Amino acid sequence: MACTDAQPPAWALALAALGLLATARAAARLALWVYAAFLRPAKPLRRRYGAWAVVTGATDGIGRALAFRLAASGLDVVLVGRDPDKLAAVAADLKSKQRRPDAQVRTFVVDFTADDAAARVVALGEFLGGLDVGVLVNNVGTSYPYARYFHEVDEELARKLIRLNVEAVTRVTHAVLPGMVERRRGAIVNMGSGASAVMPSDPLYSVYVATKAYVDQFSRCLYVEYKSKGIDVQCQVYPYRWRRSWRPSGSPLSWRRRRRRTPAPPSAASGTGRGARRTGRTRWWGSSSPSCRSPSPTGCSSTGTSASAPGAAPRTPRRRRSSGEGRRRLRIDR
Ligand SMILES: NC(=O)c1ccc[n+]([C@@H]2O[C@H](COP(=O)([O-])OP(=O)(O)OC[C@H]3O[C@@H](n4cnc5c(N)ncnc54)[C@H](OP(=O)(O)O)[C@@H]3O)[C@@H](O)[C@H]2O)c1
Repeated sequence: MACTDAQPPAWALALAALGLLATARAAARLALWVYAAFLRPAKPLRRRYGAWAVVTGATDGIGRALAFRLAASGLDVVLVGRDPDKLAAVAADLKSKQRRPDAQVRTFVVDFTADDAAARVVALGEFLGGLDVGVLVNNVGTSYPYARYFHEVDEELARKLIRLNVEAVTRVTHAVLPGMVERRRGAIVNMGSGASAVMPSDPLYSVYVATKAYVDQFSRCLYVEYKSKGIDVQCQVYPYRWRRSWRPSGSPLSWRRRRRRTPAPPSAASGTGRGARRTGRTRWWGSSSPSCRSPSPTGCSSTGTSASAPGAAPRTPRRRRSSGEGRRRLRIDR
């Protein structure tokens, strides 16, 4: 007769205990993440870090949105960008949307790819010298216009990537940190990318990804270096490129249909993009036509024409584009 109340062997109990521990640890981490991401109350930035926020690349995209959020949370803002007209327009827009009557917005012009960029950043440091800068957002950055092999990356693009993604973040941080150290408080937010922090590799974007890996590691080291001085350093990681010019409407099913209709960019047609396509990480439906870089988040359609962008061509009735034209207008969103 079989014995029904036999005890499981000790090794099985040990394994079950280990499994329980691992599950409890994962559950605790998930709960902490949910709390930090969705439930934890926001920090009082002005009181905790200082009165001013500095945002580089604040005239468009994420930088512009962050400038508005930081202003809404009670900080005065310095917008840093390369185009004085765009800076003035964003500053006026930002001021007009502030509830605080004493909200201040200042602008500083610097083209981080220009040969005088180093001198301009020194001037930026002096400009910020008298301000209680609490938050620095090193947002400015760029990627490839489309996927390509490393040997196809020309000198100009490589220089631009390194100057914007590496030099700008390094120099601006170097200019702003002494004031934060003196005041013993501050927060630095750098823009990394999921392409370097999450993906094991991201072929056809090697220089971009390498520059973002620099930002990631730079931020980790600064975090440890300056923790004891009251300065928080963070690297934000965006998994994929999300431009305002890409505004999917409808259901995910309609996005898939749109993707199927969209022709591949030249590199893919010539074979260069196929690898990227196989990975399923390329979103062909995006566009970065200049007319689509409108300050109004509602100003862009998914095909890249803007009704409200200054100087934008009036909307023309839709017509079928030749595949060549479609290719010229496309850009990989990363
Ligand atoms: N979007 C994403 O999903 C994503 C994903 C991963 C990482 N990121 C990172 O997040 C950051 C912002 O991305 P984004 O998509 O918001 O970029 P974006 O829309 O292209 O905006 C870039 C900003 O930088 C400014 N800028 C460009 N070149 C400049 C130069 N030479 N000198 C000074 N300013 C310059 C632009 O000014 P103009 O208005 O004059 O062009 C604009 O204000 C970047 O570092 C990017 O690598 C974004």
